[in-house]
Amino acid sequence: MTITLGFDVYGTLIDTAGVTEALHEFAGDRAVAFSTMWRDKQLEYSFRRGLMQNYQHFGICTKNALDYTCSMLGVEIAEKDKEKLLAGYRVLPPFPDVKSSLPALKNNHFRLFAFSNGRPDDLASLLENSGISSYFEDVISTDEIKSFKPNPAVYAHFLRRSGAKAHAAWLISGNPFDVIGAVSAGMSGAWVNRTGKGIFDPWELRPTATIRSLSELADAILST
Ligand code: 2OP
Repeated sequence: MTITLGFDVYGTLIDTAGVTEALHEFAGDRAVAFSTMWRDKQLEYSFRRGLMQNYQHFGICTKNALDYTCSMLGVEIAEKDKEKLLAGYRVLPPFPDVKSSLPALKNNHFRLFAFSNGRPDDLASLLENSGISSYFEDVISTDEIKSFKPNPAVYAHFLRRSGAKAHAAWLISGNPFDVIGAVSAGMSGAWVNRTGKGIFDPWELRPTATIRSLSELADAILST
């Protein structure tokens, strides 16, 4: 049986904390706190827009969250600098294990897809910039159905677009809410807990597998 893998992008293949260095200029020693709040708020806005069925693309959630974080932390950033930060969000770096692990997974006959809230052009930019786009059969964006994770409709969309059956499809994500969303929708879910210090939401829905690095993924899947 061929197994289909849907890789979450932001926070799984691509490190959203990569923006922290650029934030030092504006937020000084609060750059890490700024980056964390920006990311949390970006996700909250996507959840809320999904629930409200008032869709604006993920780039808008990112921009609105940047404005919110500036106001909340009292950090002033000129519009042109905000645009630079947002442009930086299109070239965020991959996590260190990504480039070395994807070729082995592809050679192991897994089908690889990128699957994300991001818009197709932003995803193309991120994957190109990281030199990993060639490993993916396709890039599937929730923008195609104007909703966000963890709406069950987006996981159904992933299955439709990839032509996979839920019992042979895995979502790979560093974001617990995404793993829970996929498992709730009938897929398997691997949680990538790189630091070993992440906290998985204490719900009744658990990851099918937990790994510290994408290099552990093939073994984790084949042993379940
Ligand atoms: C993604 O869909 C959830 O941000 C995450 O890439």
